[in-house]
Amino acid sequence: MFWKDKIVFLTGASSGIGEALALEIAKRGATLGLLARREGLLKELAEKCERNGGKARYFAVDVTDANAVTNATASLRNEFGKIDILIANAGIGGNNAETRSLNAEAVAKVININLLGAVNAVSAVLPAMLKNKSGQLVAISSLAGFRGLPKSAAYSASKAGMTAFFESVRLDVQSKGVAVTIIQPGFIKTPLTSGRANKMPFLMELEDSIPLFLKAIERRKKFAAFPWQLASIVRLGRIFPAWLYDRIARRASFRE
Ligand SMILES: NC(=O)c1ccc[n+]([C@@H]2O[C@H](COP(=O)([O-])OP(=O)(O)OC[C@H]3O[C@@H](n4cnc5c(N)ncnc54)[C@H](OP(=O)(O)O)[C@@H]3O)[C@@H](O)[C@H]2O)c1
Repeated sequence: MFWKDKIVFLTGASSGIGEALALEIAKRGATLGLLARREGLLKELAEKCERNGGKARYFAVDVTDANAVTNATASLRNEFGKIDILIANAGIGGNNAETRSLNAEAVAKVININLLGAVNAVSAVLPAMLKNKSGQLVAISSLAGFRGLPKSAAYSASKAGMTAFFESVRLDVQSKGVAVTIIQPGFIKTPLTSGRANKMPFLMELEDSIPLFLKAIERRKKFAAFPWQLASIVRLGRIFPAWLYDRIARRASFRE
């Protein structure tokens, strides 16, 4: 019953985790505002969500365009009266030569989309949530934000920033009726992780991961990290001294 009649604004809805979440949330009777850049995919997804039993509107918007994100949330709120849940999911891996060689523009692109795009979505929905003393902000962050990872400076920084941003916001808003849920997945089979030659540890099938996202949101958990095996290793890694961490982490080749 958690999702029935909830108004959910979901960024990064056109593929992977966002698309799969939208379909499941629609099945549970929610109304969705779907945001991403590829309009054709969003249109098809909105139709599927409606066939699944939910209502859906879509917004072909770049999450880095703060005004366009604000307009999209305003349009959803005007039609349905409120937004109950934001799922800030839009993101890129930045797994290319420019980003790895720390080309400043390429690094900025990853941080703009993954971190500042999420900030745009929060600032678009939070004032009305605070006014209503009700709502939930959900960050799709990553285990990659726990500590720096090799060949992942931009992505790790964007996800560490995202986790810290949402945690800070939680401290400011939880006593005002707004919950904050930070989800930190490991590797999930989606277009973002496809095409890598090396093995990704504890890689999850997309359909196995979706119930874990839904459970974390439904329980309004402050943090959820999965799969548990990789989450445990990463949590342990956080308390390692730098010399030991370097020895183990620098050998990782899962970005290649
Ligand atoms: N897959 C994993 O292993 C994994 C693990 C941990 C965390 N995550 C996080 O989960 C989220 C979803 O990733 P995914 O694996 O589902 O990847 P994906 O299939 O590539 O989906 C990424 C989504 O983000 C959207 N997006 C990208 N740039 C955007 C922009 N500038 N404006 C608006 N939307 C934008 C894409 O839509 P358009 O291209 O149509 O705009 C797409 O819908 C990301 O934040 C990712 O970092 C993924």
